[in-house]
Amino acid sequence: MKNFVSFRQKRLLNLGIKCFRQNIYCMKQFYSSKGVNASNPNRAKVTINTIQKLYKSKEPITVLTAHDYPTGLFVEKAGIEICLVGDSLGMVALGYQNTSPITMEEMLHHCRAVTRGAKSSFLVGDMPFGSYETSPTNALKNAIRFVKEGNMEGVKLEGGSEMLETIQKITRIGIPVMGHIGLTPQRQSSLGGYKLQGNTADKAKKLIEDAKSLQEAGCFAIVLEAIPEPIATCVTKILRIPTIGIGAGAGTNGQVLVQQDMLGIFDRFMPRFCKHYAKLDKIVTDAIKTYREEVKTGVFPAKEHSYPMEKEEYEKFIQFINENETSSLDK
Ligand code: KIV
Repeated sequence: MKNFVSFRQKRLLNLGIKCFRQNIYCMKQFYSSKGVNASNPNRAKVTINTIQKLYKSKEPITVLTAHDYPTGLFVEKAGIEICLVGDSLGMVALGYQNTSPITMEEMLHHCRAVTRGAKSSFLVGDMPFGSYETSPTNALKNAIRFVKEGNMEGVKLEGGSEMLETIQKITRIGIPVMGHIGLTPQRQSSLGGYKLQGNTADKAKKLIEDAKSLQEAGCFAIVLEAIPEPIATCVTKILRIPTIGIGAGAGTNGQVLVQQDMLGIFDRFMPRFCKHYAKLDKIVTDAIKTYREEVKTGVFPAKEHSYPMEKEEYEKFIQFINENETSSLDK
């Protein structure tokens, strides 16, 4: 009897410990400041130091855009290091003709949505056209809004040496800035469209000057867009900060693509530098066509998509209907 009791007590104790452990685990999930990242639990938060380490170890840095919760979640699950809420979302998600119309309010709204999905990528918000050019002070105010209201960790802005003072002002108060030179889509009107940049010796020299200015101003990385590969490689070798290429060849320290472009969702045009990793446009359109067809033909919803009811309750209900609603049932 004595042995039996202690055996039972032991079992209860073990059970108690198990429950306690489970509770602690749940509490950690909800209360730990580090938190458990449910969409990618093994992933540590990517910080500016992680980007530095990747650069030093020569491991290519992956950057991808996102514009809402699901696209942020895709970036997270795939383990992309930098999640860029690019102003390209104005075109690929909001349907504007170019990136000029997108506002601070729209950008901040999308930034917040992305952060709910991309929990551990390093988050960079793209400053929209008109939010940083008028004065360094105005740029600083808007960069702060990206951090406070958009939950971003850094900002990106387009332009070369003319942006030096603005970038200094932002980086000095501790907001990491990503530069962007070469094809700067916000200036596409003055560039004569979305064209290759830095393709003459003089233009390439200017790119080098711009890149050096951005580095001096304190940028933590620079996007090089639509630049001949040898020039982008040369810029990369000269700098002491990472270059992130888009249409700049394989000699940069990392690559960035627009998510809708690489998934084959954006229908208006496909730049030469983009690779389709999927053709979701067709997959999604076909799925929606099938849904429409199934609704029209009564195939959907099937039994398994509908909720049954207790026979007894249903019969009681029918009796009530028969007694009270016969005229409506005749319709
Ligand atoms: O807006 C954007 O998505 C960008 C990337 C293409 C670099 O600026």
